[in-house]
Amino acid sequence: MTMAPDPPRSLPRFPRDFVWGVSTSAAQIEGAVAEDGRGRSAWDAFAAEPGRIKDGSDPRVATDHYHRYREDVALLRELGVGAYRFSVAWPRVMPDGSGAVNAAGLDFYDRLVDELLAAGIAPVPTLFHWDTPQALEEGGGWLVRETADRFAAYAEVVAGRLGDRVARWITLNEPAELTLLGYGLGQHAPGRQLLFEALPAAHHQLLGHGLAVQALRAQRAGNIGIANSHGPTWPASPAEADTAAADLYDLLLNRLFAEPVLLGRYPDEVAGLLPGPVAEDLRIISEPLDWYGINYYQPTLVGAPAAEGSGPTAFGGIQLPPELPFAPREIEGYPRTDFGWPVVPEALTELLVSFRERYGDRLPPVVITENGCAYEGTGDTERITFLDGHLRALHAAMEAGVEVRGYFVWSLLDNFEWAEGYARRFGLVHVDYATLERTPKASYHWLRDALREQARG
Ligand code: BGC
Repeated sequence: MTMAPDPPRSLPRFPRDFVWGVSTSAAQIEGAVAEDGRGRSAWDAFAAEPGRIKDGSDPRVATDHYHRYREDVALLRELGVGAYRFSVAWPRVMPDGSGAVNAAGLDFYDRLVDELLAAGIAPVPTLFHWDTPQALEEGGGWLVRETADRFAAYAEVVAGRLGDRVARWITLNEPAELTLLGYGLGQHAPGRQLLFEALPAAHHQLLGHGLAVQALRAQRAGNIGIANSHGPTWPASPAEADTAAADLYDLLLNRLFAEPVLLGRYPDEVAGLLPGPVAEDLRIISEPLDWYGINYYQPTLVGAPAAEGSGPTAFGGIQLPPELPFAPREIEGYPRTDFGWPVVPEALTELLVSFRERYGDRLPPVVITENGCAYEGTGDTERITFLDGHLRALHAAMEAGVEVRGYFVWSLLDNFEWAEGYARRFGLVHVDYATLERTPKASYHWLRDALREQARG
């Protein structure tokens, strides 16, 4: 007698109006970097420097989404998502970051938005996903206060063109990573290694966020959020040196970016280190949001730094200088993605519940604006396990009283994974970089079926 295989376990039921989506970003998928008047971005410049990108690649072609967006929207439609989070490339719209608007650049997003709407998919643009116009970067980029004003002026232009059809907006993607990796450690564009001197870049991005919220609302564009990256920070041991180091890391990744936005204040530990009329700026930064976006990938185990003279430590592919006052450690006992990141779905529940506890009613409804993993191959059962586990963990947080309105998978397509180049594959859809052919992976089919089941109610 042969036994029938176990039927696949259904996901728990999510609310009927829950927003299901996938995310991408311009620099990672568009390519066409010199077409139709697009200006240079800080990532174009960074990737052109030898040794910056691990596989020696660059974002010039990427997935060629700029020319293939119709095919990609068809993939989204077949997947059955209700929303698509993409980013608008600032240098495509304003080649120098300020001043002249490039109509052809705006036209691209206009076409994309119309294509999405025709497919019944809500467009969710992110105004900035790390591709600072190089002209601004050369003047100091986000270390300079004026960049915040220029960002707001650009936001106004985009809202003026797309606002009649876009019903949900995101200002910034992960200002924490750009501050830390781009200005602090030099692993991402613009490749600066300023350590704690990078903090002004955090403040100016947050100020740019607040000014952009005002600019969007002035254009009658509403339903605005931010996509901040967050994760639980676990101390390596109960020893004081380790808990203090973990608290500092938690401050830099979580509190430094959540508290100004949600509470209108910086944590005391950093308040004196930020430039400008901080009290006035905080009133702008804390413009109430309609929802709060969280990108979640992994928790971090943090301990005190190793003894002096022990040299740089490597973490998640990044070399950390020994003078940092904390040292991330490998988390043992969990499966790992191809990136080496531990897969810990329950840490998503922990994160959301802790946010609710920390911020109470000041926390607006949450949207998970990114969650995903890097695995090779199109028979990607590990990605299915990852998504299944994280959706159950998300549901558990909702059962525990956290108001979550949506979930976006990172990412639709394999793409240019920043300093890693094309080596890390986060897509539900495989991209053959020689032919640019798209092939839906097993995880794409799994998600499509799961969404159909949710829709049946
Ligand atoms: C970023 C994405 C990136 C993903 C995976 C997030 O930090 O927003 O652009 O591809 O993580 O590393």
